[in-house]
Amino acid sequence: MEQSRRDFLMGTAWMGAAAVAAGCMSQSAALGSGVGAPMHGFRVAPMKRVRVGFIGIGSRGRAAVRRIALIPGVEVTAICDINPTRLAESRNWLKEKGFPPAREWGKTEDDWKGLCDWEGVDVVYSCTPRPLHCPINVYAMSVGKHVMQEVPGVFDLEECWATVEAAEKYRRHCYMLENCVYGEYEMLAFNLIKKGMLGEIVQAEVGYTHDQRALQYNPRDGVFWRIKRHQTHHGNYYPTHGLVPAGKCLDINRGDRFDYLVSMETKSASFETYGRAKFPASDWRHNAKMVKGDVNTCLMRTVNGKVLQLTHNVCTPTPYDRGNKYLGTKGTIRGIKDESYQICFETETGDKGAEKFFDAQRAQEVREMYKHPFWKTAGDIAKKVGGHGGMDFIMDLRWVYCLQNGLPMDTDVYDLATYSSIVELSERSVNAGSRPIEFPDYTRGGWKTAKPFTVEEFDISKFDFSTRPIAADKAQQKV
Ligand SMILES: NC(=O)c1ccc[n+]([C@@H]2O[C@H](COP(=O)([O-])OP(=O)(O)OC[C@H]3O[C@@H](n4cnc5c(N)ncnc54)[C@H](O)[C@@H]3O)[C@@H](O)[C@H]2O)c1
Repeated sequence: MEQSRRDFLMGTAWMGAAAVAAGCMSQSAALGSGVGAPMHGFRVAPMKRVRVGFIGIGSRGRAAVRRIALIPGVEVTAICDINPTRLAESRNWLKEKGFPPAREWGKTEDDWKGLCDWEGVDVVYSCTPRPLHCPINVYAMSVGKHVMQEVPGVFDLEECWATVEAAEKYRRHCYMLENCVYGEYEMLAFNLIKKGMLGEIVQAEVGYTHDQRALQYNPRDGVFWRIKRHQTHHGNYYPTHGLVPAGKCLDINRGDRFDYLVSMETKSASFETYGRAKFPASDWRHNAKMVKGDVNTCLMRTVNGKVLQLTHNVCTPTPYDRGNKYLGTKGTIRGIKDESYQICFETETGDKGAEKFFDAQRAQEVREMYKHPFWKTAGDIAKKVGGHGGMDFIMDLRWVYCLQNGLPMDTDVYDLATYSSIVELSERSVNAGSRPIEFPDYTRGGWKTAKPFTVEEFDISKFDFSTRPIAADKAQQKV
């Protein structure tokens, strides 16, 4: 899989020009030119008071405002949305709960820049449609703000480089809000793997299977940004939910890295069948044609010889699933949402302890014994607040904790770029008849010396929750 960096950059040069033209990146930052010091282990001085400005307070952003407002030491100082209904919703909620009013932006499409410029914001929390992610990352960091960005962090390789280089140049965090990293199951798998119970992991099988036919054909507010992508591109445009937890288990960018991927796609059938069945011939959705096939599958091989299988399927009628299967030299774990944890491992190599999955009682014992420290300490509070079973709140508590205590973020800008790359790399592979496509190394060799991920402790007693009574919130998302 040798492809020189120069070949790689030459092959994508036209996209750099497009991104510059779009105002997403500067010419000097184009094409991975390496403008700053490495960001591995990057930390800032402890920030006891964290002032957060939100851009995009639709489904995801509205729920985030309500979680963030509950975290001691954090203030929601600004909100921005071009939809006045969404602004009113969060404004009213803050007022009803007795929080100070947030300053508002959203009169024009790029009014969000005013929020980024304002000195009353330390952190920009972005939950906009995906095309805005990179412009917000780059602009917000250029004016000195840390960025918490929804998934996927960016959308193509030029945006990946632009975001990496802005973080290196302006020395700001750019953290991807991948909530599934903090799922109870995902953290159990991580803990078991890091404790060596499954031996060396050789393959992970993960993904995102979520029947979104109703959501994509009937979006909230009538804005069809999700399905537009489906209509115009091949590839996995939403790769991170299964991928980032698996990448942490495989120490991607921390001693190993993705070398190349191949990607294959089925034909497109389910969305179009749905459109024809649900909408009259007079409605554009009746005959809407899709480019992306129903199921996209990527296989990624790491430099150290591990394989990650990644699925994306948002259109066939099938239960929600993130795959969540890990195969190691001593055992296996597989988690099915709302159902079971299938676990088995050998105590000694070759003792055949992994010939069948543990029974329910043993699985439960293992689940308790290897519960991740984050869930031990913050699980009760997180479940009470809600948000995908509590993982959304643990994610937010954790990045705030890292900022308040001057720690590095759990994942960094190189991770954001690596995982977001799959959007473009998978499309290029599909378009090339599933040809292998090489990954860029955003760390520029730093992955070789970066320390592997570890199971961190989380001292939740540092948050004084007496100042922010925790309560269940119906706006938090379930799926
Ligand atoms: N982590 C998760 O579990 C999860 C789940 C769903 C969506 N997401 C991600 O969250 C992001 C938002 O998704 P959503 O479901 O909340 O979408 P949404 O359409 O409900 O909300 C997006 C909001 O952004 C606003 N907006 C659009 N353009 C804007 C602009 N120029 N300035 C200010 N506001 C603008 C819209 O008015 C809308 O209120 C997406 O990137 C998506 O991929 C993540």
